[in-house]
Amino acid sequence: MDIYSLWSEFVGWGQRSRTETPFLIDILSRNGCRSVINAALGDGFTTIKLLGKGFEVTSNEIDPRYEAIARKKAAERGLSLDVTHNNWLGFSRVGKKFDAVLCLGNSLCLLKSKGEITQALREFRTTLKEGGILIADQRNFDYLLDERPLRGKFRYSKHYVYCGDSVDGYPISVSDDNITFEYRHKGEGIIGNFNMLPYRREEFIEMLRKAGFSEVEWYGDYKKRDINADFFQFVARR
Ligand SMILES: C[S@@+](CC[C@H](N)C(=O)[O-])C[C@H]1O[C@@H](n2cnc3c(N)ncnc32)[C@H](O)[C@@H]1O
Repeated sequence: MDIYSLWSEFVGWGQRSRTETPFLIDILSRNGCRSVINAALGDGFTTIKLLGKGFEVTSNEIDPRYEAIARKKAAERGLSLDVTHNNWLGFSRVGKKFDAVLCLGNSLCLLKSKGEITQALREFRTTLKEGGILIADQRNFDYLLDERPLRGKFRYSKHYVYCGDSVDGYPISVSDDNITFEYRHKGEGIIGNFNMLPYRREEFIEMLRKAGFSEVEWYGDYKKRDINADFFQFVARR
């Protein structure tokens, strides 16, 4: 079994639906959003939850391994997915405008540079209707860069975003420009790793502003401005 086929066990659908889903529904509803594009479909968790709540959701995925898993999970629930296949660096090719763009699950750190992240944010902004919102999240990289906790020293509640019991993700190396996370499944042992480009909360807010977003609000584990959170969420308006 590889990291893709075990991703849902890392996500932990039950717990994530108790934390991320109510937050998204609240923010999307308060902002009058109906049409949503989920820029990082992954195993389908966020898309499937929002489809179930009646939102019009388009999804984007460039990795066929994730797309196949998400399509299977949707079909099991009697849903079908509308999937586009654009790299975030050319995301506006999707050619339609949405009330909201979502990029969740600590995904933007998979890009190669802060310049690329800013470019992706510009593309997301172009894909929004006037007054539409981007919702993005990231790990608390401030904590990781300040304390450089490795393996068992990594503090992580498992209540937010990646909540599964059977897969652990933890840093095995931390430097200013790369953090490597290793993933270990209880039964299968080590199943893979991902390299992430770390950036601080304030740096991300700066990148959002450079990309043209003026109004930005941030949350920590879905509460307003909690700096000790596992993950930060950002809501930025076009
Ligand atoms: C860490 S997974 C997160 C998946 C899902 N959002 C979640 O929360 O579980 C990262 C996702 O970003 C996608 N991705 C990575 N780099 C990308 C890029 N340059 N353009 C578009 N998608 C990308 C991957 O294919 C994958 O779906």
